[in-house]
Amino acid sequence: MAAMPYPAGTLTNAKGHLEVGGCDVVDLAAAFGTPAYLFSVEEMRSRARAYMAAFSARTDDFEVLFASKALPVTAAYRLFAQEGLSVDVASGGELTMALAAGYEPGRIYMHGNNKTDSEIELVGASGVGHLIVDSFDEIERCERILEGPQDVLVRVTPGIKPSTHSFISTGQVDSKFGFALEDGTAARAIERLLDSKTLNLVGLHFHIGSQIFEIEPFRLAVASLATLSGDWCRTVDVGGGLGISYTQEDEPPEIETYVDLKFEAVREHFGDDVRILVEPGRSLVGTAGVTIYTVGTVKEIPGVRTYVAVDGGMSDNLRPMLYDARYEAVIANRAGDEADHVVTVAGSHCESGDILVRDVALADPKVGDILLTPATGAYGHSMANNYNGMPRPPVIFCEDGQATIVVRRETYEDLLARDA
Ligand SMILES: Cc1ncc(COP(=O)(O)O)c(C=O)c1O
Repeated sequence: MAAMPYPAGTLTNAKGHLEVGGCDVVDLAAAFGTPAYLFSVEEMRSRARAYMAAFSARTDDFEVLFASKALPVTAAYRLFAQEGLSVDVASGGELTMALAAGYEPGRIYMHGNNKTDSEIELVGASGVGHLIVDSFDEIERCERILEGPQDVLVRVTPGIKPSTHSFISTGQVDSKFGFALEDGTAARAIERLLDSKTLNLVGLHFHIGSQIFEIEPFRLAVASLATLSGDWCRTVDVGGGLGISYTQEDEPPEIETYVDLKFEAVREHFGDDVRILVEPGRSLVGTAGVTIYTVGTVKEIPGVRTYVAVDGGMSDNLRPMLYDARYEAVIANRAGDEADHVVTVAGSHCESGDILVRDVALADPKVGDILLTPATGAYGHSMANNYNGMPRPPVIFCEDGQATIVVRRETYEDLLARDA
């Protein structure tokens, strides 16, 4: 069994408390309250550097794009810009945050399967480098709105279904995203774009799914994509999708192995003259983040189960409910104690399905304990919501023992702020 999926450098200190990024998480809970998302800055930087180093060892002609849907936080955009990454945005909101963080517009790639008029106007006004075209309707909309020339890639669904949870597979023919390869739609889109006076087709894109451990399907996807290539194709964007450890059983491939496979596949099927783009989200930020909660009730139902309820739940981590995603949990103020009580960690929401972790072994949980769930850095904050009027938690960056609030906790006033 592998280790707990903590950020590198996480340790149990002399008080028996977990430390993330050199910060005692129990002290952080006291100072900033719970629930809270904590991030190890070092882990984010080192994952970004692993991607950059893996490509740099092979070519100069590449870009690593931070798929910002995984953690749309201005400070995260700033951090990845500093590390030399470009950025993938999928809405006007993400585009606004990338620009606010100081991203050079030429390094921004705009996605989305239903870009609105105003989003396309913002793309034009801010000088976004590339737009990834997703539908025929969008081509017409862009031609109507943009002055051009606007460089575009075309999103293709190459008909490859990776072995991961079906809800997060987006590359099969039956998909709301992009143009299907198998029925000739992608070829028609390319013909259409090559005729466009406004849109300048420069490359191809696919993203076949997420939380992927079995990486061979990427090679098949690149091979299928190459059947569409022509002289115009200078850029091949092979999407994101690399899986991470959520539990001690998970053993995802290394970043280098994954980059190697994608790089080799592109060189084999497209030759040496194309620029390679990759779009990691989860694998940059997932294991960098943890969530801390306070235990509020311990309800033992003899012979059935024990529910340990915390002060968050489906409003701060929707993934267990959306995908049956599995997490670990630990009592962070007694991290050295033996985890010998099997319990179910529940949230505070008015849904029986509001279960964060089912059947997990904890060290005799008590009211007032600080419970930590690792690997919540990706798609936790970004999918957070106000169900039951729950204010969203703060995002706190931890580095060398310093904790910085980069997104403050929502307040009850914030909940009223939009009332007309
Ligand atoms: C187009 C695109 N690129 C990149 C990503 C990032 O995927 P991951 O977080 O699995 O790396 C996604 C995720 O949905 C996506 O839709």
